[in-house]
Amino acid sequence: MKIAVLVSGRGSNLQALIKNLHGFDVEIVGVVSDNEDAPALKHARTADIPTASFAEASYDGREARDLAIADWLDENQAELVVLAGYMALLSDSFVARFRDRIINVHPSLLPAFPGTRAVEMAVAAGVKVFGVTVHLVDEGIDTGPILLQRAVELDGYSDPTEIHQILQKIEHELLPEGVRLMADGAVSRDPANPQRLIIER
Ligand code: GRF
Repeated sequence: MKIAVLVSGRGSNLQALIKNLHGFDVEIVGVVSDNEDAPALKHARTADIPTASFAEASYDGREARDLAIADWLDENQAELVVLAGYMALLSDSFVARFRDRIINVHPSLLPAFPGTRAVEMAVAAGVKVFGVTVHLVDEGIDTGPILLQRAVELDGYSDPTEIHQILQKIEHELLPEGVRLMADGAVSRDPANPQRLIIER
């Protein structure tokens, strides 16, 4: 399966995808960023993967930017779009164009703590079990059907940076696993409850 990865930052999840999947059954045909200075783009270039950046300021709004990204993804024949630390919201028309073909990794056990400050919110709420979710992307903020989740008990931890580092190790396993399941065609929606995904391993 040909996939594209959208990034905004460091790119440790992108590195995990390159290391675990790229060149096997999965080909990363492009890496796209909303930020031309994202360190993640360097990882892509090192692996000889085409990159492109689309700053919102260069377009007449987010909708126009997302249209340009979508056209680039189609030109590069991406069948699946993987959000790996992509911090911009995607417009509804982008989500509709790639319906059920966008996945995201999020550092909480959704539906708890959606949004950009998930770990900080979990710490503030005093939770003792943290976790990671890989999910399909719909029009909401981190509301799409859940593909994979893994919990980790971190009683006594209160430093969001330290907790996030622990969660990222889980992300680096769970996101490639989620992509592999999508590439294998192993994921479908439960007809009785379309919010629930059925996985046939
Ligand atoms: C990850 O923690 C992910 O859950 C969140 O953004 C972070 C990206 O990290 N959506 P990296 O750029 O892959 O290192």
